[in-house]
Amino acid sequence: MCGIVGYVGKQSAAPIILEGLRRLEYRGYDSAGISVITPDGLAMRKRKGKIDEGLAKLLKVQPLAGGLGIGHTRWATHGPPSDENSHPHQDASGRIAVVHNGIIENFDRLKDRQIKAGHHFLSATDTEVLAHLIGEHYERQRAANVIPPAGIHPLAHAVMEALREVIGTYGIAVVCADYPGVIIGARRGSPLIIGVGDGENLLASDATAVAPHTRQVVYLNDYDVATLTADRFTVASLGSDTAQVQISQLEFSPEAAERGEFAHYMLKEIFEQPRTVANALRGRVDLEDGTAKFGGLNLTTAELRAIDQIVITACGTSWHAALVGEYLFEEFAHIPVEVEYASEFRYRNAPIETDTLVLAITQSGETADTLASLRETRRRGHKVLAICNVVGSTIAREADGGIYLHAGPEIGVASTKAFTSQVTALTLLALHMGRIRMLSLNRGRQILQALEAIPAQIERILGQNATIERLAKKYAGARNFFFLGRQYNFPVALEGALKLKEISYIHAEGYPAAEMKHGPIALIDDTTPSVVIIPSDAMYDKTLSNLEVVKARKGPVIAIATEGNSTLAKQVDDIIYVPATLEPLFPLLAVVPLQLLAYHIAVARGCDVDKPRNLAKSVTVE
Ligand code: M6R
Repeated sequence: MCGIVGYVGKQSAAPIILEGLRRLEYRGYDSAGISVITPDGLAMRKRKGKIDEGLAKLLKVQPLAGGLGIGHTRWATHGPPSDENSHPHQDASGRIAVVHNGIIENFDRLKDRQIKAGHHFLSATDTEVLAHLIGEHYERQRAANVIPPAGIHPLAHAVMEALREVIGTYGIAVVCADYPGVIIGARRGSPLIIGVGDGENLLASDATAVAPHTRQVVYLNDYDVATLTADRFTVASLGSDTAQVQISQLEFSPEAAERGEFAHYMLKEIFEQPRTVANALRGRVDLEDGTAKFGGLNLTTAELRAIDQIVITACGTSWHAALVGEYLFEEFAHIPVEVEYASEFRYRNAPIETDTLVLAITQSGETADTLASLRETRRRGHKVLAICNVVGSTIAREADGGIYLHAGPEIGVASTKAFTSQVTALTLLALHMGRIRMLSLNRGRQILQALEAIPAQIERILGQNATIERLAKKYAGARNFFFLGRQYNFPVALEGALKLKEISYIHAEGYPAAEMKHGPIALIDDTTPSVVIIPSDAMYDKTLSNLEVVKARKGPVIAIATEGNSTLAKQVDDIIYVPATLEPLFPLLAVVPLQLLAYHIAVARGCDVDKPRNLAKSVTVE
């Protein structure tokens, strides 16, 4: 949530920061702003609204010249979106500017103290309080001629002293008119990276903003405080005497984070799935032994065999993937599984037995609730494996081991390719756990062969895009939707409903098809369509009965069925076919038409698919 970009170097800072903010806009798009140290001092431009509608227009008429600056694109926490609440915020002297991602939890107490000391505030944000706090420490240091410890810049020292008073989370960038060549960055709980350039350095919330400028990045750790100039950077730590600094190479190209010929990132990412599923499989398929192999689990076969329970924590779409995983682990490896909302799990006192494997599933690797449950679980002495997409993210670095998805940057706020990659990784892990237990070689090989066919099968589903678009136009006026499925396809129903509600604002509920009759069926009428996932599997007749119950109440039905089931076409209003596969793999196919349906309904309703209201990618606040 919220995107931060900082630049110091020989080029003009404002255009580079603006472009970086555009690349980070998926993190928040309520408002945006930039501060640059110009020849006349610190100057600021900020505006409510999306970047191209607000800040970019303002910068055209009031450009900013200078080789150092910081910028921010906001997802509001304290104070509604407005010009005043947009970042950057300044201290009382107007010489220091701050951009911030996170929440300062004790801001009201600090603000009371500052008001008593005569400070005036221009916004309702917690960030302005932090800016004033840094300013207070800076002025105090100067007045008392304080010499910072060796190697610590005076501005960094003031920032560090201010942060010692702060409770909460932050990723910040700070500049001061007195030091026209220095940016200070600091993090605790909100991601921040340094892009290491040649005669220039950048600071950003994530790598997509720095990718066009450099392949070398440093992922800052919690409590790190970085000092950037054009030629060098140093990192100190608030938590220990020395900071760990490691330069990593970016694994994706800048083009991977571009929309290309597609109208929206979401559509691009849906169409990437044949490749991203193949990437999740690459190097992990062992057909000979009918099993999967992994490089980074960091657990021996004996340790994996000793596991007698699995707990999976995740949020949103990743939580839906975890639910598919529950069915897979139970089917392939006979291991009982608990799937937990990370936001609930972190505050529960859930007993975790010794031989329990804890998995954290996350696309971004930065979700605050998932990160907090990982930390709490590790604090209790248990190992946690992460299934994660973003290389170098906080969860990927703090987990004891895990599986990378290699799906490339997911920019669309509505997660799509991450889901199919997560389910692919979970299928491989469940298979591996099964094969070191009782799953037969033949069954293992059969699962792998079916998995290898999935990318081409997704490609065939994508070939129905135009048909699904037509269908979407027919149903785009509905006010309520149901998504129904059983067993493996119950989580897919939840995911289909989530996709629709987050981008089209249509109320949608995902339900186990048979559970409908225990209450929600009261909502069915001829204006409420139900999408029923009904593969030709062991549950077919049962699901058909559930479908009939909806039809009997005049509810329109869109079926997601297995190719070749022509009988069903006569019993439902509309039908989308997907290729046949093994029962446990059906979610990998069934979810694709649901993604396309949600996408086209949202477009037909005129919604901003990549920037849905109230949402942001990567929820880094509680
Ligand atoms: O990055 P994560 O997978 O941890 O994110 C979890 C959720 O915030 C995310 O899946 C969210 O629900 C998406 N908007 C769903 O499309």
